[in-house]
Amino acid sequence: MKRTKIKDLLDQPTTGKEVLVKGWVRAFRSNRFIQLNDGSTINNIQAVVDYESYDEKILDQVSTGAAIAVHGKLVESEGKGQSHEVQVSAIEIIGNVNPDEVQKTVMQPKKHKLDFLREQAHLRFRTNTFGAVFRIRHGLTFAIHKFFNDRGFYNLHTPIITGSDAEGAGETFHVTNFDLDSIPKDDKGNVNYKEDFFGKPVNLTVSGQLEAELGALALGQVYTFGPTFRAENSNTSRHLAEFWMIEPEVAFADLEDNMDLTESFLKYLCQFVLDNYADDLKFLNDRDLKEQKQKPEKDRNPLSLIERLEFVANNDFKRITYTEAIDILRNSKPYKKRKFKYDVEWGTDLQSEHERYLVEKEFNCPVIITDYPASFKAFYMRQNDDDKTVAAMDVLFPGIGEIVGGSQREERLDVLKKKCADFNIDEEEIWWYLDTRKFGSVPHSGFGLGFERMVMFATGMTNIRDVIPFPRTPQNAEF
Ligand code: 4AD
Ligand code: MG
Repeated sequence: MKRTKIKDLLDQPTTGKEVLVKGWVRAFRSNRFIQLNDGSTINNIQAVVDYESYDEKILDQVSTGAAIAVHGKLVESEGKGQSHEVQVSAIEIIGNVNPDEVQKTVMQPKKHKLDFLREQAHLRFRTNTFGAVFRIRHGLTFAIHKFFNDRGFYNLHTPIITGSDAEGAGETFHVTNFDLDSIPKDDKGNVNYKEDFFGKPVNLTVSGQLEAELGALALGQVYTFGPTFRAENSNTSRHLAEFWMIEPEVAFADLEDNMDLTESFLKYLCQFVLDNYADDLKFLNDRDLKEQKQKPEKDRNPLSLIERLEFVANNDFKRITYTEAIDILRNSKPYKKRKFKYDVEWGTDLQSEHERYLVEKEFNCPVIITDYPASFKAFYMRQNDDDKTVAAMDVLFPGIGEIVGGSQREERLDVLKKKCADFNIDEEEIWWYLDTRKFGSVPHSGFGLGFERMVMFATGMTNIRDVIPFPRTPQNAEF
């Protein structure tokens, strides 16, 4: 007999049908009711055992976490909480729980703390919360490819090992096969990279953008979706050392087109989750409500998780310039009452407290801030006519902060060369990038969506470590 997945069984239950289900025991109550889950859905199937006629040795092994197969008839359930259940005719133990482990709290059917679960890699996936998070993470991945494919974009694989530091922040991880205990040196005592694997210093990519630009200037519109690595030593709930980024790049597009694309993209993703992940979302929505209730009233989100997704899907984003943002902040109550920790002054970057004020207090909706001062943005951003600002944009989301960063790119060779000089970037290092501005250069734009921040928004999880299967953060690369 072929196994039926629990999702299929519950989606279209055929009363009276003989079925075989396989999964892991979530709970076993009164020696009679087994809650079985196989990962296909957040919902369990209840399997009911007639224990008096059943082998005790087998029932003893039906403990939380054990993998079992259940044969039986699908019948309408008399109990509450489920429409159908399986009347068990046979149980097979596929993988029991090591008897020494049964008593350990980790396998008990109770609520565990999220940071504890981060250390229990195998168990984490088995919980309702993480099952829901990782199903939605998958759904978002699929939706991203679908969004771009439907609009004629080509997915481009950009390198993971590269010589460039696109963002110029110097927060890269070096890649080498030198024996670190005896690194070859040149006459001057400097590291001799000529002897290294690639013959030059290379690192893990911080962004696929520069390479994506080459693709866009031939294929018209491309997007990357790959891992990116940043050795920022920021141990926050929004930063990972290894995260995934989606970077579309579009030829013949200016900043306005770029904002329109970002906005329709983010709306599409929210709607996709609402349309396709109702069960998981309902669970996470309840979870979020409980979390909100534990917060002091002033910190609570007036909208539920589902309402937040609907809000983004159905409302226009607010678009303001950096200069306008500074004015608003300097006229705000917290500024006047000196409640901000960091000063607000034209020319300095916005801190997350400022971003939060704009998004959560002033506008209460996603905000796109454009035209930042050139001084703290990347070299490739297009210089505006005022010579002070660049055609940059950051999208800020409530509860998340910056979710997207992007810009129109500097397509004028002479201006770009000057930027390289200002930023101390050796033209010889990025000759291949500068070449694009010599052979049919066109205005073009793109952005990067931090995938995990999007998953946070879609699931209501508040720590970025809880939306990636195996988080990498400073001092932590277990599993
Ligand atoms: O703003 P960023 O640095 O922009 C770029 O890398 C551009 N090359 C994108 C482009 O124009 N093609 O990063 C983009 C997004 C951020 O808005 C944020 O959501 C996310 O990537 N991000 C991180 N997510 C998790 N952990 C980190 N350490 C992150 N750093 C950036
Ligand atoms: Mg940014």
